[in-house]
Amino acid sequence: MLSKVLSAYVIGVDANLIEVEVDISSIGLPHFSVVGLPDTAVKESKDRIRPALKNIGFSFPLKKITVNLAPADIKKEGSAFDLPIAIGIIASEGLINQNELEGYMFIGELSLDGKLKPVRGVLPIAIEAKKRKLKGLLLPHENVLEAAIVKGLSVIGLKSLPETIEFLKGMKKIEPFKVNTDELMSQNSIYEEDFSDIKGQEHAKRALEVAATGSHNVLMIGPPGSGKTMLAKRFPTILPPMTFEEAIEATKIHSVAGLLTENTAILARRPVRMPHHTISDIALIGGGQIPKPGEVSLAHFGVLFLDELPEFKRNVLEVLRQPIENGYVTVSRAVASVTYPAQFVLLSAMNPCPCGYYSDQRHQCTCSPSIISKYRARISGPLLDRIDLHIDVPAVPFKELSKEYTGESSERIRERVIAAREIQLLRFKSEGIYANGQMKTRHIKKYCKLADDAQNLLNKAMESLGLSARAYSRILKVSRTIADMDKKDKIESHHVAEAIQYRSQDRML
Ligand SMILES: Nc1ncnc2c1ncn2[C@@H]1O[C@H](COP(=O)(O)OP(=O)(O)O)[C@@H](O)[C@H]1O
Ligand SMILES: [Mg+2]
Ligand SMILES: [Zn+2]
Repeated sequence: MLSKVLSAYVIGVDANLIEVEVDISSIGLPHFSVVGLPDTAVKESKDRIRPALKNIGFSFPLKKITVNLAPADIKKEGSAFDLPIAIGIIASEGLINQNELEGYMFIGELSLDGKLKPVRGVLPIAIEAKKRKLKGLLLPHENVLEAAIVKGLSVIGLKSLPETIEFLKGMKKIEPFKVNTDELMSQNSIYEEDFSDIKGQEHAKRALEVAATGSHNVLMIGPPGSGKTMLAKRFPTILPPMTFEEAIEATKIHSVAGLLTENTAILARRPVRMPHHTISDIALIGGGQIPKPGEVSLAHFGVLFLDELPEFKRNVLEVLRQPIENGYVTVSRAVASVTYPAQFVLLSAMNPCPCGYYSDQRHQCTCSPSIISKYRARISGPLLDRIDLHIDVPAVPFKELSKEYTGESSERIRERVIAAREIQLLRFKSEGIYANGQMKTRHIKKYCKLADDAQNLLNKAMESLGLSARAYSRILKVSRTIADMDKKDKIESHHVAEAIQYRSQDRML
């Protein structure tokens, strides 16, 4: 007998409907074959389903069982088809009627004793189930919260295969899991850290406010212990809060990566990812045998912080160019390529020299000039060209650190950032971008009009500092942001003067 069970499969960050067809026939030798999965996944799935069915007291049919996961042309990885395949076998044996399955979508891994184990990528699957107007999504109970974020979908959490059967046969009532998304959003959107924790460092704070306002990429340069990591961790707290739509988009990526815990069913805070400098290119941009989003995508709508920038491998820094330019990454696989969103602010940090204390007040630098220039040369080129602000972060004197005082709160800074973002949103509403940091050459021409004295100042600086054409457009973008913070339509000379300050590395190289 033939049965059909609905399931779904995630490609990239979106799910596709899959129909699991199970045919059991007494004609022919006993055999269990699965079409539409790669060999290893088939084997593993069969090795779980067979004992799971036996252990719940179902006599496994010694017949010809054919399972087709349609469409069969995309090879599907993972263990989430265990439940729909097992349900299909039981239905084909006549123990569940096809009409009892109608309108339900199933996902879940089986353990050998018939219990259900959580799977990744549940949020995109729940979104697909809702889009298809299905009656309900049946899944492992550990995954309910993640799925219930999708409003208007009936989510049924289950502990085991027997419980699933009882539910389908109407022998056991299970209420759909409900969650208050507004409450979750407001609970999860509180940051533990605040800008007011940072003493002194007024120049760096101002520069980070500029970066947050215009969504500009940043390089911080300073000795060990000067507070670079501290500043980076607090950067998201001055960005505009995540909207519900942004939170869903970001959560989808973490769901696919299998990183959601019960406490973070929805990402309401902007993520900060801090990969170590030994990271591989695949871990950074995503991909692999079973493709997974990389750090750049986990940082979507948030911050990617690369500490000790010169220590990263050259090829790793190279692959950052596509996401920085486009806001997404494409990773190729054997059959097709997968695209993951990757829109983030890049914060990076480095010591001024290998020993860390070049130009430090309290320590003697032990590096030779040639070693220092070699160290700095490691970050030159394409990546440095995509960083708008260079921020000097010198050590704060002990006297200052021990002072009892609190700096401005993140909330107050964020209010200014939001106000200046509104100017940008209005300016770019038909351009497909939302912040000054994203401007391309044509936008710069159109929107970065300089007052006469500002133009003169910039020309002089270009000449005396020997700045490149690239640096020129970076300065214009940052000047635009500073003028927006000042609520000025035309860019004035003091806006340009401040922007020039943020190009210290161009002068050093
Ligand atoms: N400006 C500052 N205000 C308050 N604490 C600071 C400041 N700068 C450094 N610290 C303290 O020093 C520690 C080290 O700072 P960190 O951010 O890790 O420095 P870096 O990343 O530049 O090496 C912090 O955890 C914090 O306790
Ligand atoms: Mg640090
Ligand atoms: Zn040194």
